[in-house]
Amino acid sequence: MTNLLETASATDSTQGSGVVARGLSMHYERIVGRDRVRTRALDDVSFDVRPQEFVSIIGPSGCGKSTVVRIAAGLQRPTSGELLVGDQPVRGPGDDRATVFQSPGLFPWRTVINNVCMPLELAGIDKKTRQARAMEYIELVGLAGFRDHYPRELSGGMQQRVGLARALAVRPRVLLMDEPFGNLDAISRERMQDELLRIWEHMKTTVIFITHAIDEAILLSDRVLVMGPGRIVHEVTIDLPRPRSRHDLLSDTRTLGLMRELEARLAGKENVS
Ligand SMILES: Nc1ncnc2c1ncn2[C@@H]1O[C@H](COP(=O)(O)OP(=O)(O)O)[C@@H](O)[C@H]1O
Ligand SMILES: [Mg+2]
Repeated sequence: MTNLLETASATDSTQGSGVVARGLSMHYERIVGRDRVRTRALDDVSFDVRPQEFVSIIGPSGCGKSTVVRIAAGLQRPTSGELLVGDQPVRGPGDDRATVFQSPGLFPWRTVINNVCMPLELAGIDKKTRQARAMEYIELVGLAGFRDHYPRELSGGMQQRVGLARALAVRPRVLLMDEPFGNLDAISRERMQDELLRIWEHMKTTVIFITHAIDEAILLSDRVLVMGPGRIVHEVTIDLPRPRSRHDLLSDTRTLGLMRELEARLAGKENVS
């Protein structure tokens, strides 16, 4: 009998890897005038993300969220501690991980399909395979009709979709997203959240999603880690049924309780009633 997984489309068979952070600390030193100023961006941060889990990290500006992403992406080495992806310590960038930042960073002289193909080119995948794979993900993000457009011909939301397609096309075991919708207007942001939900339900890769929006974290996540300056101060499980939609969430009485709890935790309250 043919294995179902083998015959399923590639997007169905993406496997997520677990992520483990153990005692991550990150200290920056800057020279200001004649003084050495030390910032503890992270101070002994530990967390686990299960394979295929969607975890958000929420916290105020400057609390160290992007530092976690840069360490997980392998763009930065922690001062101490380590981060493992699927049992392997991260020592640098690798195609088991893909990162989506607030600005999609597309190449303006490349069309949509050629932007999405870029990492596949770097991975040495032949042209026919990479074009077919790129199209698969361009369709997944709803941009099939725009494959030959240039970034300047697309709205901000569409550009961010191209960035998402490019990240997904490498079939990462962990998708890192650092406030990916932070630059979008409210309507585009909601659309992108809906799209991401749909895509994640379909791909089930592991996601670490950075945000400072409580409603976004609740809508998308299985679990939310709340950060204060340099550390994780609380963890909230989002025990709402899946598949989820914005509409279900708005009509679920538990949503309000979760919003209250996250708001209180972000404000640094210890006891939440
Ligand atoms: N390259 C750097 N040099 C010095 N300080 C930095 C550097 N990058 C980040 N920081 C500081 O580390 C802290 C955490 O930054 P960051 O991880 O970007 O926070 P967040 O993403 O939560 O806003 C901030 O105080 C920031 O100013
Ligand atoms: Mg940041």
